[in-house]
Amino acid sequence: MEVTANKTKVSMIQGDITRQATDAIVNAANSSLMGGGGVDGAIHRAGGPAILEECKKIVARQGRLPTGKAVITTKGNLQARYVIHTVGPIWHGGSRNEAELLRSAYHECLKLATENKLASISFPSISTGAYGYPVDEAAKIAVSTAISFLKEQATSLKDIVFVLFDSRTCQSYCTALQACPNHFEA
Ligand code: APR
Repeated sequence: MEVTANKTKVSMIQGDITRQATDAIVNAANSSLMGGGGVDGAIHRAGGPAILEECKKIVARQGRLPTGKAVITTKGNLQARYVIHTVGPIWHGGSRNEAELLRSAYHECLKLATENKLASISFPSISTGAYGYPVDEAAKIAVSTAISFLKEQATSLKDIVFVLFDSRTCQSYCTALQACPNHFEA
């Protein structure tokens, strides 16, 4: 399903983000940027060692990536042109600023894509796997952050795609998109 907000399409698909041909795909990384399981592992496996090499240089230059921040690297062997790595919050029950940190993770990726004049970006469901963020809540934050960004900022982005791995997660994101009071046609 999809909506258009300020001439940018926001859509939901079920699938594997490593196969997306958008200008950027987003990695749900950890602060070490050294890879891991889940979507992080899948991206590094499919993209090859060039991505890790660049991540190592970034960490050597600026240290670990704080939760809620994002950096951009090469795509290695992937179809996308870039990988944007962000770190979502670990769910601790909701009292440790998780919602704001998750919002920041999405926002920083959208900002970085805009600064790099990208036309399209794919997101996985950040924080809802190993990091344990409840999916329905995370979906609302993901969708509302994207729609708010499109309302508030000029952007090169024409396509924002949420690539959800399983049907349960996909359903949550579709419900969030349908319910989002902020979306508007343009
Ligand atoms: N494409 C799209 N989504 C995927 C893929 C894939 N190839 N593989 C997994 N996912 C989905 C998961 O099913 C889940 O819905 O991505 C979502 C996020 O799950 P995780 O990858 O576990 O990410 P997160 O919860 O943010 O945890 C990050 O996991 O692997 C580590 O290094 C990573 O430590 C970090 C932590």
